Amino acid sequence: MNANTLPGQPHIAYQANTLCMENVKLADVAAQFGTPVFAYSKASMLSALAAYQRGFAGRKVQICYAMKANSNLAVLQVFAKAGCGFDIVSGGELARVLAAGGAPEKIIFSGVGKTRAEMKQALELGIACFNVESEAELDVLNEVALSLHKKAPVSLRVNPNVDPKTHPYISTGLKGNKFGVAHESAVQTYKRAAALPGLAVVGIDCHIGSQITEATPYLDAMDRILDLVTDIEAAGIPIHHIDFGGGLGINYNGDTPPAADALWQQLLAKLDARGDGQRQLMIEPGRSLVGNAGVCLSDVVFMKPGEQKNFCIIDAAMNDLPRPAMYQAFHQIVPVSPRAGATTLVDVVGPVCESGDWIGRDRELNVQAGDTLAVLSAGAYCMSMASNYNTRGRAAEVLIDGDQVHLIRERETAADTFQGEHLTP
Ligand code: LLP
Repeated sequence: MNANTLPGQPHIAYQANTLCMENVKLADVAAQFGTPVFAYSKASMLSALAAYQRGFAGRKVQICYAMKANSNLAVLQVFAKAGCGFDIVSGGELARVLAAGGAPEKIIFSGVGKTRAEMKQALELGIACFNVESEAELDVLNEVALSLHKKAPVSLRVNPNVDPKTHPYISTGLKGNKFGVAHESAVQTYKRAAALPGLAVVGIDCHIGSQITEATPYLDAMDRILDLVTDIEAAGIPIHHIDFGGGLGINYNGDTPPAADALWQQLLAKLDARGDGQRQLMIEPGRSLVGNAGVCLSDVVFMKPGEQKNFCIIDAAMNDLPRPAMYQAFHQIVPVSPRAGATTLVDVVGPVCESGDWIGRDRELNVQAGDTLAVLSAGAYCMSMASNYNTRGRAAEVLIDGDQVHLIRERETAADTFQGEHLTP
């Protein structure tokens, strides 16, 4: 690793005191496209994907990028071209995959509340699998499939009831969560699914949470899922594939998640121990493929020293970077062109009219109005969760590839934000 690279960000480094992504100076990106702007490194996405591919060498796997993490068409295109399928959770995401050139037969459809219209759309396109999350959904999917004279390929998302040891809002595999069907009654639910004429049982699915930084919850979940596969198959229902979800964490602030290849070597050893090493697998990683590939560049609007706190007010806000406000999440914040001299302790905040609109608290920075900051690890769950709150147009996005900068989303104008609204006569 280059001595100047930032922790967890192999494609972002200071070169001659200016922050670069691949071979591009981020100050130039801010100057050309304005701020706030998201910049993503293509090489970083592909190297994150390569870690999974190394881990699965010689195995049967379909990697389905969980596109909710970052659904820009050009980002999807990178993964589609690299052979990925997609994990979708809405008809809107399905439309995006198609617009980006993704293959329907590599799509899996997750989510607790799929509508009939979404089921129909996905069935007509011939997606790979519906990850079904309830008995009610089984019944409705069966009806919709029969009305189309089709059989819907289904997996049941089983809740293995393991604690992923992450933020409560992003842990999903515990009993109290709305997700999945209960482990205890899973064989029963499988029997029910297998008896429905409009459904074809093809697999089993689990996803225990997000930003997981330890191997243990995965290993425990794998044990529980493999035991269940044995029971389901003993009941005469063949399981073609095991979908092990996503959830692997990234380094935001010195976090040390296992590397994807190392984690999968451990998980695959469990399959090998059962003589099951050649079973078809699927995974649904999101954050770990894109999170550390992205930064958000934002200019300092004002410095506002105060009695108790000093504020550094930037032009990005909770509508662009919702994770701190929603999950008290930590993102590193660094100057694009560092100044020599002493730092001061500041809270980095946005202009939105909410006290929750902070991006980083108690940060040591030496900055002045007009400087550009980079909010790191902003490739996942930032732009995809951005809103127009305070009638702020969403930021522009660029994809960096070597020394090339591609504008992949235009900045929204104020007029864009109220397009489609109507005055009354
Ligand atoms: N599969 C399913 C069924 C999911 O619900 C999710 C994420 C994933 C895969 C991808 O998980 P990942 O590999 O990205 O951890 N907005 C939150 C994260 C929400 C995750 C929702 N589900 C955040 O910013 O931390």
